[in-house]
Amino acid sequence: MPTRDSRIRGSYRLCGLLAPIGGAMLALGLIGFVSSDPATLTVRVDQPEQKIDPIFYGLMTEEINYSYDGGLYGELIRNRIFQDRPIAQAGRGARGGATNPAGTLPGAQAAAQTAPPQATNPAVEKNPNLIDWWLVVSNGAAGDIDIDTKDPVNTIALKNSLRLDIRSAGAGRRVGVANDGYWGIPVRPSTTYTASFYAKASQGFRGPLTVAIEGNHGKVYASGQVRTLTPAWEKYTLKIKTGQVQATADARFVLSASSQGSVWFSLVSLFPPTYKNRPNGNRIDIMEKLADMKPSFLRFPGGNYVEGRDFENRFNWKTTIGPLEERPGHMSPWTYRSTDGMGLLEFLEWCEDLNMEPIVALYAGMHLDQGRTTITGDALKPIVQEGLEEIEYITGATSTRWGALRAKHGHPAPFRLRYVEIGNEDWLNNGLQNYGGRFTMFYDAIKAKYPDIQVISSMRSRDKYDHMRNPDLLDDHFYVSIPTALSQAHYYDKYDRAGTKIFVGEWATNTPRSGPTGHMAFALGDAAWLTGLERNSDIVGMNCYAPLFCNVNPGGMQWSINLIGYDALGSFGSPAYFVQRMFSNNRGDVVLPARLDPLPTLNADQIPQAPVSPGSAAGGTTIGSGPTGPFDAVYATASRETATGDIILKLVNVQATQQSLKIDLQGVQTIKKEAKGEVLTGDLAAMNSVAEPTKVAPKPITITNAGISFTHELPAHSVTVLRLKTR
Ligand code: AHR
Repeated sequence: MPTRDSRIRGSYRLCGLLAPIGGAMLALGLIGFVSSDPATLTVRVDQPEQKIDPIFYGLMTEEINYSYDGGLYGELIRNRIFQDRPIAQAGRGARGGATNPAGTLPGAQAAAQTAPPQATNPAVEKNPNLIDWWLVVSNGAAGDIDIDTKDPVNTIALKNSLRLDIRSAGAGRRVGVANDGYWGIPVRPSTTYTASFYAKASQGFRGPLTVAIEGNHGKVYASGQVRTLTPAWEKYTLKIKTGQVQATADARFVLSASSQGSVWFSLVSLFPPTYKNRPNGNRIDIMEKLADMKPSFLRFPGGNYVEGRDFENRFNWKTTIGPLEERPGHMSPWTYRSTDGMGLLEFLEWCEDLNMEPIVALYAGMHLDQGRTTITGDALKPIVQEGLEEIEYITGATSTRWGALRAKHGHPAPFRLRYVEIGNEDWLNNGLQNYGGRFTMFYDAIKAKYPDIQVISSMRSRDKYDHMRNPDLLDDHFYVSIPTALSQAHYYDKYDRAGTKIFVGEWATNTPRSGPTGHMAFALGDAAWLTGLERNSDIVGMNCYAPLFCNVNPGGMQWSINLIGYDALGSFGSPAYFVQRMFSNNRGDVVLPARLDPLPTLNADQIPQAPVSPGSAAGGTTIGSGPTGPFDAVYATASRETATGDIILKLVNVQATQQSLKIDLQGVQTIKKEAKGEVLTGDLAAMNSVAEPTKVAPKPITITNAGISFTHELPAHSVTVLRLKTR
């Protein structure tokens, strides 16, 4: 079996062979490959090896941690069609009291934003299903709110309406409904918001209806009016604009009136400006962060989100397309209800906006229920057909049935689709028992109709699963501790070079886990691991960190350690985000052999320790579970970018001391003296937050001593990218 190991530089092999002896000697202080000794990195510029696929770095996404609703998706109103139920909120966590290590607000304050006191909201006490909606009364006015199922706007998705009964009101005495969105409505200065809703009124209601964004303590930030309402459902849309106000999320959206009668509302929506001004579009600051990463693909819609907890709550793409009025939403497996406002077409437009290729996971009959309801055999045929139709919706010409529907939805141009994945993590939930049959049905159907599409299996390479059909790629997932990340920087060195290619569809250094985003120590594990993926890009075609997003407000997180955090107003990238950005922005397109000699090594006590429970008073650090070493102290990869001729070095020093590195470039005539790059370093426990978004962030560097042979100092606990100019 050919492996990369057999072709690899001496020092790495030596490390593997001498590891046990070396570790013991190092621990005793008997051998000398310690951090302060200079090492030499020899790069064979004249012996380019495997190509790095241009699609190598991308994003993985699903509805988790309020990724879309309460995250990327611009909608500001929570529970806009009154379908959320208290039981669905079980996983949201406490609305008060929780700590908020990465947010701007201490828990109690954030909770106050989220939940105006119950005492002011007797309607909710009467009907606990009135999630996120609050009765507003002023100056002795009186009224009530409730959910109404009679005379719905439609019976597809808008089955419920919110009835506002105004019993007593008048000049200066209003009754209304308020929604505080996802932990507050973000108010920004001089900003135009688009409010829309369906409404009707009882005979005799005179209006007007006031539409406003208000501070929780009464200040009006933006408002408009609908002069009157009719007894029939009509859609109203209006723009409301803030003035020169201070940005705040201590605000809510209010619909109110001072004339008596009843008013019904449905599909109540409020959008801020969106990225590229897309209607029903995405939040600008988060999209900009993603754009800065220059990702090449988006793996969607999951993750577990594609499987769902049961058939009803799978990612049923057909109920996520078309007018919002026809999207009922569904329960995400991550304990809250998804609006499906971020539907199949929105995912594709997100790809379009950031120039990413879609990698679409098709629902494949398995759910998150230990295999109790897995669909196989003949019963799976309609599901396979649904998958084919999904592909046609994405790629079909407007002359096809589903391509025509996409055009009707506003996107006549087909999308390019080269990869689909069959299910997600089918090695779980008893999927091993029947994935072969399910995969074969999808594979045969897809290849028959779309022979150019690459079909990805959700089995891992280590499962050594007999698929009956050869998948084009296997999807490997890794959620690991720092020692595992470091040692797995060599994971694919030993992979059979004739084996099935790999898509690393989820990975992160994240263990032991706590908090919404990670610290610098985890980012070092990530960077070391990524050098291994890049070096093995003959086997690894593409990779993406997971999960991508987390709303850092108390109750926002279901999965700790995510790439990007945010609250209603602000967002930040974790140190891991910056590693991704550095690597993705400096890819190169061909790997150059790089050998470190001598290779400094560390024992388990010397590698970066993960802080336990960042932000907690208890504190402490741990190595976490995993291999005991010895570990490489420095990780390096070299590549060349053909278009510029640049030689790109990625250098990761996981030692607590700086490392002097002599860099020898062989087989190249000229290296310019000046070279630019970036370096990321920081305290191992340091994290970013909405309040301090760039506490740990890469700094640009310029060196003036570059050449065919030169010395460079790697700071302690650092990730460095250097671009050496050959012309
Ligand atoms: O990324 C979080 C979850 O981890 C994904 O939904 C699932 O695929 C994996 O188990």
